[in-house]
Amino acid sequence: MMLPKIELHLHLEGAAPPAFIRGLAREKSIDINGIFDERGRYRFDSFRQFLKVYEAATSALTTPDDYARLTRAVLEESAASGVAYCETFISPDFCGGGDLGAWQDYLHAIREAAAPFDPQGITLRGIATCIRHFGPDRARQAARCAMETAGDWLVGFGMGGDENTGQPKDYAYAFDMAREAGLRLTAHAGEWRGPDAVRDTIRDLRVDRIGHGVRAIEDLALVDELAERGTVLECCPGSNIALGLYPGWRRHPINELDRRGVRVTVSTDDPPFFDTTMAREYDRLAEAFDWDDGQLRRIARTALDAAFCDGETRARILKRLEPGHA
Ligand code: ADE
Ligand code: ZN
Repeated sequence: MMLPKIELHLHLEGAAPPAFIRGLAREKSIDINGIFDERGRYRFDSFRQFLKVYEAATSALTTPDDYARLTRAVLEESAASGVAYCETFISPDFCGGGDLGAWQDYLHAIREAAAPFDPQGITLRGIATCIRHFGPDRARQAARCAMETAGDWLVGFGMGGDENTGQPKDYAYAFDMAREAGLRLTAHAGEWRGPDAVRDTIRDLRVDRIGHGVRAIEDLALVDELAERGTVLECCPGSNIALGLYPGWRRHPINELDRRGVRVTVSTDDPPFFDTTMAREYDRLAEAFDWDDGQLRRIARTALDAAFCDGETRARILKRLEPGHA
């Protein structure tokens, strides 16, 4: 039987298969052919270019119904990988341009699309996300949308985008707003900047989890601090390797971080962009580090413990992680 998996770091637009985006673009006569290579895959050769291609692809998603269709396609793929629970990043900037009423419509469509998957064994929750390179004002606007829709389904607030823009403290107001609304917090850090960025993010944004965080390995005192504090890292090894952060699976720091007591988890980030799936991440990790099923189950358990859902949902999902669960 396939191992049950818990995914904490998945950008909804970033999970859109290129054929899905091409189809939408054709329907709407949007010209984004330049973002695909001759085999129809997304084409980029740097992180900056990846972000541009990502935003161009997202421009084809223009209605709540597009996001509903996308949600169904993504959950079908996740289910095929054995994912039992998934948290997805959704941005008020892409879903309604920061307008609260529009955001509510998008969110409603995504939730409705995900609901029928629950009885089939895959549960989705949302994390509203601001985009760092869109700046602090738009981050505040995104936080306002998140605040107004916080609840049992929209459980967190986060930040993606270009880590090289600004400093974490520039976004502290947005994160304070979200925290006050009861949302749990995560931010990308330690992907493109080093250990100090991880430190600053924890101090200034007071996050529960860090997106990536892998470059903490460059400072072992920080690694010890993370282990002691119990900070969870949403590691996405396939993404890091595809974007050139590490030259191969055996060189990825996830194993060393785990060995040093950091609570690491495994996610795909933007799977079709990086030619990956949750099943593939697990296979590559087992191969690279000799991780057995026990180790992989332990990682899924860490991820479920760190999930932002309520306790009742967590207890329900925990049953799906038990060996022998059909
Ligand atoms: N948005 C989508 N994927 C991302 C990544 N890997 N880093 C930052 N922002 C992102
Ligand atoms: Zn990410």
